[in-house]
Amino acid sequence: MPQQQLGLGVAITGCGSAVPSTALDNEGLSQVVETSDEWISSRTGILRRRLADPQTPLRAIAATAAQQALEMAGITPLDVDLIILATSTPDDLFGTASQIQASLGASSAVAFDLTAACSGFVFGLVTASQFIRTGAYSTVLLIGADILSRWVDWSDRRTCVLFGDGAGAVVLQAHTSDRLLGFELRSDGSQNELLNLAYQPEPKALTDTVTIGQGTFHPITMNGQEVYRFAVKRVPEVIEKALFRANLTVNQVDWLLLHQANQRILDAVAQRLSIPSHKVLSNMADHGNTSAASIPLALDEAVRQGKIQPGDVIASAGFGAGLTWGAAIFQWGR
Ligand code: ACO
Repeated sequence: MPQQQLGLGVAITGCGSAVPSTALDNEGLSQVVETSDEWISSRTGILRRRLADPQTPLRAIAATAAQQALEMAGITPLDVDLIILATSTPDDLFGTASQIQASLGASSAVAFDLTAACSGFVFGLVTASQFIRTGAYSTVLLIGADILSRWVDWSDRRTCVLFGDGAGAVVLQAHTSDRLLGFELRSDGSQNELLNLAYQPEPKALTDTVTIGQGTFHPITMNGQEVYRFAVKRVPEVIEKALFRANLTVNQVDWLLLHQANQRILDAVAQRLSIPSHKVLSNMADHGNTSAASIPLALDEAVRQGKIQPGDVIASAGFGAGLTWGAAIFQWGR
């Protein structure tokens, strides 16, 4: 029995993606920090990444990905009831989803941002599905987009080699049968210090008795080895739990679609789950870690390449800062 179907079912009926046009390969990155193509490719599987120029806002790549997803679903912006933008790098801290709503012309839709770092897309998928299952909304546009290059410390070779910029989107629609088969979401704030993009206040005295904090966000810091250990242990657990809820075995999974953090993490998780490598989707080489965008970006590429077919069972999982992690098992298409 698939996990809790309160009202209507959910189907994922369209996808799209967009990346900035500028690419930086490992050779180019070795002019920025002391590193090499050999080190980066052997430790991470990354060969190049796309980076947004200063004139490219997040909302632009997000809107392009969204338009493609709407086209594939065969609907117009006016059909959308809700837009969720999963991001940690908004153009505006008050929220960027509304600007995307305006640029798409989705005037009937309510729009908000959701922040859960590299788990943002999976958390957004489950959130969007609840609105549909309760019958509140019938069409949701979910976008995962990040421009982490804005917040990377470009003098820190342990982190700057990992990240790239991009956007991916899906359309979720009410459907007679439910294609979101199972999920499991988790958080552990006690390990928050392992991966941060934290606000650092500077004291500013307003009057003799009132001082407030006014500062900025400091670039990404990460304990790479601990994040690696966390991912390799926790991600298989949530996938197994979500599969159990979906009443499926690992052999029934057609595609493993993990957050694209590191090829070694993808390989280790697949090995722990006994999923053969030909079922593991990876676009690490071309894009690096694009945070909330990585899962819908890899999904869109695999759908457009004809790899993923309607009805295929996809085990997806996001993991990252927070710490947050989660898995969603779904079938592609109507
Ligand atoms: N180029 C060359 N040498 C490097 C580089 C580099 N870019 N980075 C580190 N090194 C060196 C280190 O200085 C160290 O040298 P030393 O032994 O002389 O001190 C050596 O390489 C090994 O460094 P480690 O940090 O131990 O390297 P490790 O094997 O752990 O690999 C990596 C690092 C790739 C970051 C790995 O830990 C990892 O993938 N962790 C997971 C990170 C991740 O996925 N984070 C994203 C999560 S998602 C989100 O929410 C953002």
